[in-house]
Amino acid sequence: MIENIKFLDLFIPGPVNVSKDCREKMILPIIAHRSPEMGNLHKDITSYLQKLLFTQNDIIMSTSSSTGYMEAAIRNCVGEKGVLNVINGAFAERWYDIAKANGKEADMLEIPWGKAVDRKTLNEALDQKEYDAVCITHNETSTGVMTPLKDIYKTVKDHNCLLLVDSVSGAGGIEARIDDWEIDVFFFGLQKCMALSPGLAVGSVSKQALEKAVTIPNRGLYFDFIDLKKYHDKNGMQPATPVIPIYYQLQYQLHKIIDEEGIENRWARHTIMADYTRNWAKNKGLSLFADEHVASNTVTCIESKGIHVSKLKADLMKKGYFFSEGYGKFKESNFRIAHMGDRTLEEVKKYLKTIDDLTQ
Ligand SMILES: Cc1ncc(COP(=O)(O)O)c(C=O)c1O
Repeated sequence: MIENIKFLDLFIPGPVNVSKDCREKMILPIIAHRSPEMGNLHKDITSYLQKLLFTQNDIIMSTSSSTGYMEAAIRNCVGEKGVLNVINGAFAERWYDIAKANGKEADMLEIPWGKAVDRKTLNEALDQKEYDAVCITHNETSTGVMTPLKDIYKTVKDHNCLLLVDSVSGAGGIEARIDDWEIDVFFFGLQKCMALSPGLAVGSVSKQALEKAVTIPNRGLYFDFIDLKKYHDKNGMQPATPVIPIYYQLQYQLHKIIDEEGIENRWARHTIMADYTRNWAKNKGLSLFADEHVASNTVTCIESKGIHVSKLKADLMKKGYFFSEGYGKFKESNFRIAHMGDRTLEEVKKYLKTIDDLTQ
């Protein structure tokens, strides 16, 4: 029963805590999905998402988790030439698996975990073979690596490829300038840096990506960008019934981010929390898993050296926190501190002090 759930402070890299005022938006009455009210809500949200992402590209929303959007990007943008998947962590690997599962020609460009791809490595891979698209994970949640898109987007464009970016744990917390960086598909879920409930994935899709989609047969039905855009253009509708309560939350949160906090201030707050966490780890004699110059500003992955990760997790739970160990094969050897969403530096300090007290 729901009454028996113990609600913990989520210090994990998503889903994260949702503020009371955002949660309260979910209890508003449901409106009809083909009503003018829904159209207005959709249009307001998409115009604010364009501001959030610094783009004029179309915004396409998907009532699904972000994995659905990963599939959408592949189905709509990868044709006969195939895709190059840059792989430096578990979520990048998942994207490659999705490409294969959809019967696409996919190659891996493997980068050691903890590092980000650089221009030279990418250039060499793209010189060897032609591709329709390149998939890059902006913020690899499994390793705490932030790939500097600004440094590499030109290399992708010079090779006439579409640039597809998973920013699931980055968008809303780290810099993203879609038009300046010529990103064709850029998507994210709301349960991470946007600090909202899970269930809706959103993204921007360029004209070139839509032009490519038209040429690709068997794009499927639910994630077909062309159909989604057709409905979007028709008074801001969706082909299927969308997750309406999350639209209420998203509109509220976007107005708060853009009109009150300011997106660049939000990025700056994430940088401050990340710097504090990185320094805390180093002062404790611990090492960062990621190369420091590409370390993420939304999640810090730390080598656990001397810290018993599962015991720490159990101890923190008793204090009311949900802690994040390392991802997959790094479960015991790493742990992750998420500093994303509406988190404050004060909350991060308090959490890290609690870890200090428990690991003396
Ligand atoms: C970088 C990245 N990509 C994709 C996903 C998949 O998101 P979802 O679980 O919402 O499908 C996650 C989830 O943590 C993620 O961190």
